[in-house]
Amino acid sequence: MPAIADGPIIEARGLKRTFKIRKGTVEAVKGIDLTVQPGEIVGFLGPNGAGKTTTLRMLCTLLAPTDGTATVVGCDLRDDPVGVRRRIGYVAQSGTTTGEAVAGQEIVSQAQLYGIDRKTATERGKALLKSLDLDGIWDRKCGSLSGGQRRRLDIVMGLVHEPKLVFLDEPTTGLDPQARANLWHHIRDLRDRLGTTIFLTTHYMDEADSLSDRILIVDGGKVVAQGTPQELKQRVSGDAITLTLRGRKDTAQASEIIGGFEGADTPNVDGNVVRAHLPDGSTALPQLLRALDKAGVDAIGLEVARPTLDDVFLTLTGRSLRD
Ligand SMILES: Nc1ncnc2c1ncn2[C@@H]1O[C@H](COP(=O)(O)OP(=O)(O)OP(=O)(O)O)[C@@H](O)[C@H]1O
Ligand SMILES: [Mg+2]
Repeated sequence: MPAIADGPIIEARGLKRTFKIRKGTVEAVKGIDLTVQPGEIVGFLGPNGAGKTTTLRMLCTLLAPTDGTATVVGCDLRDDPVGVRRRIGYVAQSGTTTGEAVAGQEIVSQAQLYGIDRKTATERGKALLKSLDLDGIWDRKCGSLSGGQRRRLDIVMGLVHEPKLVFLDEPTTGLDPQARANLWHHIRDLRDRLGTTIFLTTHYMDEADSLSDRILIVDGGKVVAQGTPQELKQRVSGDAITLTLRGRKDTAQASEIIGGFEGADTPNVDGNVVRAHLPDGSTALPQLLRALDKAGVDAIGLEVARPTLDDVFLTLTGRSLRD
């Protein structure tokens, strides 16, 4: 048995994948290093074509790397692909269920592939369906389910054997806001209850932000940044502070006060509005208010806007993830 006790659950070095196409080649993944610890929820965030699915498919042994090495749940990707597959769950971006198949039977067959008996599979499958608000679909044909129901069924199929590590490729695409929120809750619960490690791709910034312990931002086949959502956002110039004064007379003094905060950039004055960035705006706020008050500066509005992951992406790549 491979030792999986203490080390990382995923360790990849220099993973690359090139595809041959009619006119030349596509470098889909250009050398990715990854380290994921057991029990982490890691978000793999990037725009269309960034190389997310290709990376995931390599880590799940569905696609051979052109170069690089990886160990997944203690098994070497090249030497022991069967070992990897036995220990992981994978929910493909495109889904797996087929039209005529009956949902419950699909779940049971999937579990049986992993040596789970029918009774346990049925119990677990029904509990998972319930937790994802899919009660009552057990006897339904997959083809008769709505897109969002089918997506959640894919997820149940990827979880029914209770793998230590689950790869979810765009798990919430096609789900309505309530189903998305419910799935997020379920993913967190899975980690908290069973210690499951979750590696998910998404191009939803809010999803990566609220769900992930750590985010890897990928673009053009490379990891361009990584950290906790908080760390990544702090790499942007800081929180945007907008101070509105009653008139223009105090702008110079207000600028001096804000500019004097540790880590502040040079304030910008526009009429009676002073704008600046502070590394941690909400912590600085009470102090800033006191300082303005003490100096007799007549403020009529003060706003703090936290940077988003899109600001991070924009800073890193010069493009918006929303495009
Ligand atoms: N089988 C293939 N043959 C040729 N090119 C491919 C193949 N699979 C992926 N690519 C190319 O590799 C690049 C990365 O694709 P990939 O599917 O990994 O991106 P992604 O980050 O998952 O994007 P999306 O958000 O759209 O799912 C793209 O340019 C894609 O066209
Ligand atoms: Mg993809």
